[in-house]
Amino acid sequence: MSEPIRVVVTGAAGQIAYSLLYMIARGEVFGPKQPLILHLLDIPPMVGVLEGVVMELADCALPLLREVIPTTDPAVGFKDVSAAFLVGAMPRKEGMERKDLLSANVKIFRAQGQAIENFAKKDVKVLVVGNPANTNAFVCANYAPSIPRENFTAMTRLDQNRATSQIATKLGVPISDVKNIIIWGNHSSTQYPDAGQGKVVINGQTKSVADAVNDTSFLQGAFVETVQKRGAAVIAARKMSSAMSAAKAACDHMHDWWNGTAPGTFVSMGVCSDGSYNSPKGVIFSFPVVIVNKKWEIVQGLDLSDFAKSKLALTGKELQEEKDEALSVLDVGSSNL
Ligand code: NAD
Ligand code: LMR
Repeated sequence: MSEPIRVVVTGAAGQIAYSLLYMIARGEVFGPKQPLILHLLDIPPMVGVLEGVVMELADCALPLLREVIPTTDPAVGFKDVSAAFLVGAMPRKEGMERKDLLSANVKIFRAQGQAIENFAKKDVKVLVVGNPANTNAFVCANYAPSIPRENFTAMTRLDQNRATSQIATKLGVPISDVKNIIIWGNHSSTQYPDAGQGKVVINGQTKSVADAVNDTSFLQGAFVETVQKRGAAVIAARKMSSAMSAAKAACDHMHDWWNGTAPGTFVSMGVCSDGSYNSPKGVIFSFPVVIVNKKWEIVQGLDLSDFAKSKLALTGKELQEEKDEALSVLDVGSSNL
C-alpha cells in the first residue's frame, strides 16, 4: 500500500457527490492499492447534510478510506490535494440551457481557482463537472496561474458514454465492444458527438462504426441530437439533472487521467485548446486525447468531413461567446486573464 493521497470533492452534500464519493472511496478511480483522505467541501447551509454523508461513508466500512474531512472552508478543502472533483455549483432546471448558469456559477470557480492556487499540490489534477463545465474550468485555471494549465479539465465523458451507449444499442453489441466515439467542443447542446472515428467489434472482427451502422442520416441526425439533448431529457424525466451517470463519468475521466488510456483507444476531455482542428485557442474545448504517465495529448491528424468541421466551428464559437460573457461577469478584460 502507498501513502494516502488527498482528494477533494466539492458540492459534497449534493446529488452527484452522493454517488461519486462512494465510487472514489471504493478505489474505482485511484486503484485498489491507493489509500485516500477525502475532503468534502460544501457551503455552510449544507453542514447538516454533510454530517450525514460523513456518517454514511463511515458506515460503508471501506478499507481504502483513511480519513474524511468535511468542511466549508476552501483553505481546508483544497489543502494538499492531489485530485479535485469540482462538482459544487447550481444545476439547471427544465427549460434552461447550461450557459444560463454562467453568471451564478462562474464566481464559484474564480474562488476555487484562487483556493487551488494557494492550497493544493502543484501537480493537482482538476476535473470540473459543475456547469457550464468548460467555461468554469477556463475561469478556474486562470485564477490558479502557478498550476500548469493542462491540469484543468472539463467533463465531457458523460456525453462520450451516452454516445457510445447509443451506438452499442443501435448495433446490438455490448458497450465494451465500441470505442473511440468522440465528443468535440462544449458540454452543451452545440457539442458534436462524432462516431466517424469509432470502432466496433462484430463477430470477432473490428470494423469502423460508420460501416457497421451504414446510415449517415442516423449518424448525422438522430444520434447527434439524442446525445446533445440527453441531459435535458433526463431533467424532463427526473425533474433533477443526471447524477448517477455523471458520477460514473467523473470516475471514468479521472481514472483514465490517472492510469492512462489503453493502446489504440482515445477518450474525450475538455482541455485547453492549442488551436488544434481550428478550435479557438485558449478555451476549454473537448478533444479526443490519449493519456500516458498522467499527461494527456490531443489526438492529431484525424480526417474530418465538411459536416464535422461545420459542427466544430459552431461549438467553438459558443465557447468563445461563453468566455467573453464570463469575463464580463467577472468584470475583467481578456488581457487581464
Ligand atoms: P446539487 O444541487 O445536488 O449539488 C450541488 C452542491 O454544490 C450543493 O450541495 C451545494 O450546496 C454545493 N455548492 C454550491 N456552491 C458551492 C461552493 N461554492 N462550494 C462548494 N459547494 C458548493 O447539484 P448536482 O446535481 O450535484 O450538480 C452539480 C453540478 O454539476 C451542476 O452545475 C450540474 O449542472 C453539473 N453537472 C454536470 C455534468 C457534466 O457532464 N459536466 C453532469 C451532471 C451535472
Ligand atoms: C448533463 O449533461 O446531464 C448535465 O450537464 C446536467 C444538465 O444540465 O444537462
